[in-house]
Amino acid sequence: MKNAYVTGASQGIGKEFVRALGKDYNVFLISRTEADLKKVIVELEPKSRGMLKYYALDLTKKKDVEELANLIEKDKDAEVLVNNAGFGTVGEFAALPLDKELDEVNLNVKTLVHLSHTALNRFKKNKKGFLINVASIAGYLPAPGSAIYAATKAFVKSFTESIHEEAKNYGIHVQALCPGLTHSDFHQRAGINKSKYPSFMWQTADEVVEESLSALKYNQAVCITGSFNQGAITVSELIPRGFLRKLSGRYLKLEEE
Ligand SMILES: NC(=O)c1ccc[n+]([C@@H]2O[C@H](COP(=O)([O-])OP(=O)(O)OC[C@H]3O[C@@H](n4cnc5c(N)ncnc54)[C@H](OP(=O)(O)O)[C@@H]3O)[C@@H](O)[C@H]2O)c1
Repeated sequence: MKNAYVTGASQGIGKEFVRALGKDYNVFLISRTEADLKKVIVELEPKSRGMLKYYALDLTKKKDVEELANLIEKDKDAEVLVNNAGFGTVGEFAALPLDKELDEVNLNVKTLVHLSHTALNRFKKNKKGFLINVASIAGYLPAPGSAIYAATKAFVKSFTESIHEEAKNYGIHVQALCPGLTHSDFHQRAGINKSKYPSFMWQTADEVVEESLSALKYNQAVCITGSFNQGAITVSELIPRGFLRKLSGRYLKLEEE
């Protein structure tokens, strides 16, 4: 059985990737909190065909990112990487603590670039591989009130579309996954009040993962999950950018009330 690596695997979307990939792969789970990782393994290992193993690493730290990159580089059986670990912050950029904003760039962008580079080189040697980089529909929009988050996700989407085209000649599938609102701990961590958003806007993490993995089979470069999100992005592309900035700014400000 081949190996899959999932970052941010202890909950939310990452945990659902572990559940789905465990049917066909040994899965390596990576996130910071060892107790949470152990809990996921206890819950999911009996339902998995492959072996589950964890590494408690902080992927904002260069040393920890290098440790994971070394594992992937040396793993002849590595076939899947899901760069899922990420977080968001909400508030006026200039008023937010700079250290946390820079950590957000490190995790959402720099780590993802490092691990994508390592994985693509490994997959090229194997002449096969699957790379999913988790972006967001936030990457399509200007987002006053969540400037760094939206910018990191715009980077992930653009970067991943480009490497998708480069990698397909080597038999490697690369996908930018763009979910919208998805039930998880993400919003609580970001200080976002979930009840402000109507229920039709939400997906569950397992719905997001199912759509992602079925699009991956056909090597779809960008997977916007959910028909609401697909419609919203199509409409947003017709709206003049200046108006869209004002609209999304007003919308995000609701979070701070
Ligand atoms: N939920 C949404 O509405 C939504 C929408 C669009 C895109 N996304 C994207 O989907 C991805 C997953 O989000 P989610 O909703 O599943 O979030 P979540 O429930 O908050 O899970 C985040 C995961 O990342 C791990 N993590 C956080 N910081 C880390 C670090 N420094 N090093 C290693 N692991 C770290 C967390 O575990 P530890 O804290 O233990 O490290 C956890 O396993 C993110 O990239 C997010 O931007 C989410």
